[in-house]
Amino acid sequence: MKIELSSVKPHECSTPALVIGCCEDARDQLFSLFNEALDGCLERLSATKEFSGKANTTHLIHTLGRLPAERLLLVGLGKQAELNGERLRQAAGNAAQALRARRVASFASALHLSASTDAALEAVCEGTLLGSYSFDQYKTKNKDELFSFEEMTLLLPDADLAAAGARIEATRAVCLGVSLARDLVSHPGNVVTPGYLAAAGRELAERRALKCRVLELEELEKLGMNALVAVGKGSVEPPRLIVLEYKGAGDEPPVALVGKGITFDSGGISIKPGLGMQDMKTDMAGAAAVLGTLEAASALKLPVNLVGIIATAENMPGGKAFKPGDVITSMSGLTIEITNTDAEGRLVLCDALHYALTNFNPVAMVDLATLTGACVVALGHEASGLMGNDAGLNEELKRAGERCGERVWELPLWDAYGESMKSDIADLKNSGSRDGGSICAAWFLKQFVGATHWAHLDIAGTAWNDKSRPCLPKGASGVGVRLLIDYLRGK
Ligand code: BES
Ligand code: MN
Ligand code: ZN
Repeated sequence: MKIELSSVKPHECSTPALVIGCCEDARDQLFSLFNEALDGCLERLSATKEFSGKANTTHLIHTLGRLPAERLLLVGLGKQAELNGERLRQAAGNAAQALRARRVASFASALHLSASTDAALEAVCEGTLLGSYSFDQYKTKNKDELFSFEEMTLLLPDADLAAAGARIEATRAVCLGVSLARDLVSHPGNVVTPGYLAAAGRELAERRALKCRVLELEELEKLGMNALVAVGKGSVEPPRLIVLEYKGAGDEPPVALVGKGITFDSGGISIKPGLGMQDMKTDMAGAAAVLGTLEAASALKLPVNLVGIIATAENMPGGKAFKPGDVITSMSGLTIEITNTDAEGRLVLCDALHYALTNFNPVAMVDLATLTGACVVALGHEASGLMGNDAGLNEELKRAGERCGERVWELPLWDAYGESMKSDIADLKNSGSRDGGSICAAWFLKQFVGATHWAHLDIAGTAWNDKSRPCLPKGASGVGVRLLIDYLRGK
């Protein structure tokens, strides 16, 4: 979608549709102006309760020549006192989805004028870009009926357009990263394989002048990354470790971002039941978030150093697959008894974390993984699980989550949770008690991070939406990108 800035006043703007915000308990100048131009139509809609300004509602009216704008899209902002960045973002997302449903491809927005902060413009721009996302690359029938947005004009009657333009470009960069992550998660597992992720990493590196190295099977074996190798054994697609470096801060030690990249999780020999198995194409959402974050961070030229590490494999049953009862020596030297081949995420991550630690000496390390069904049980789809060994880092991530709307919720990581992960034959087993499953998984990861400041984000419940949300049309959310960018910006 093209984004234009204009100093035209809303009531003088000629456009197929003009978006304005309305609070449920307050009337601003714009409301009165348009109400008058439309002979009291807005007050009437409110009196009949057809549209009263409640959050997450929209209403479209044709102006029939009474205004230069052909249509007016009213967007509910809820109570005025509760109006914040997230509300505006959601309102903009709702507007985009309402316009898409009515196939209005070009429009102007005055939504940000309802709040008088600088951040309002970014929120509206971000919400629109996020809410207008769709993924229809695999639809071949009636291609000409597929809809895509053309242009949004943001109305800024009293603002410095150049300064606003720079802020819009920055917002666009973040949304580009989110879209990359969403696309990667949306593609099916027969397309996005470990090889595809490696190619995506290389392509990103080329485009953004990042350093990229892909460790192939032979090298993984040589380095002793047997946990990652074991998970990949059942598949004809070999596993890989993708390493990307972005330098925005000279020789400072980097922040390491580590992503789980299981391109399909069948469960392996401990095979999953068939119902819903197709959703396990999304088991590389952590990897997608890492790539999306590097895309956005480099486009924004953030003054930080980053290393992105993606452990990618396909978890399949097969004659060569790893089995329950196998004992594996991880790269760190810790031995692991496999008690469930479906607990594969922690295996690929433990080697990736150890690799990050020993090769880059990061100031902080954040991993993202669709790690446990237990996290979905605990938090549903409203927040990602957060666990870590550093209260300060956890706080920073929580604050970033509140600011950007990608919420995280901390779970405790007490040592007592590790009891069930101890093995009779090896140092650890890869799956213990079902109870507190997300924490047991995080406790397992903790054994591999040494003294490095580390946080783990379990995005099993937030990476994919079965129902549409204001800024997240149904499907892949791209979760993690905005959270990490916000966290990195706050550093
Ligand atoms: N990829 C799954 C976790 C998952 C579940 C992600 C639902 C997204 C939605 C993970 O590899 C897995 O299978 N975890 C097991 C762990 C268990 C065997 C200890 C689980 O959660 O059941
Ligand atoms: Mn699994
Ligand atoms: Zn998995």
